[in-house]
Amino acid sequence: MKKKAFPLVKVNTLLQHGPVVMISTAAGGRNNVMTLSWLTMVDFDPPLVGCVISDENRTFGTLKNTCECVINIPTLAIARKALACGSTSGADTDKFAAFGLTPQKASLVKAPLIKECYASLECRLEDSGMSDKYNFFVLKVVKAWVSGEKKPKTLHHLGGNSFMLPGRTVKVKKWK
Ligand SMILES: Cc1cc2nc3c(=O)[nH]c(=O)nc-3n(C[C@H](O)[C@H](O)[C@H](O)COP(=O)(O)O)c2cc1C
Repeated sequence: MKKKAFPLVKVNTLLQHGPVVMISTAAGGRNNVMTLSWLTMVDFDPPLVGCVISDENRTFGTLKNTCECVINIPTLAIARKALACGSTSGADTDKFAAFGLTPQKASLVKAPLIKECYASLECRLEDSGMSDKYNFFVLKVVKAWVSGEKKPKTLHHLGGNSFMLPGRTVKVKKWK
């Protein structure tokens, strides 16, 4: 999917409805990717994103060591790949090769963008102060890329292999 640069101040519009994401990292010449649903916006400008990454995941150590990652947003088109990346470890599997994902060079970080995802957010680790106690990391988005896809069918995790897709958009009239 071809992506264009996207304004950092609008990154919240990509994440605040809580889509499943795929976090890509790179270390020692090897790319890895894990699937993640526990994330939240923390601030608009600069865009800060909080996420929980279990210390049992390979990504936990790679993020702590390299202080960089990319948040990629998948859609229904690659739902099975996202699920697969969430149930295998980069410790013993090259997930890009095993699940047919294409790494693309990022502009500011070493971790790769995932070509098949409709949006990719290059991030630097902003704060790992709560990672030992809660596995909680705050990431700063330093460059954002989005494809022109209209109404992307993002995935919203219900647990296990169940997901919701985005529904109707409603505009609510303001009280005053
Ligand atoms: C839909 C989905 C959502 C997930 N969300 C999270 C999450 O929020 N945090 C987390 O630590 N693991 C989450 N996982 C599990 C990791 O993706 C999984 O443990 C993965 O194998 C870790 O890969 P790694 O060892 O290569 O880092 C999720 C898995 C799936 C399928």
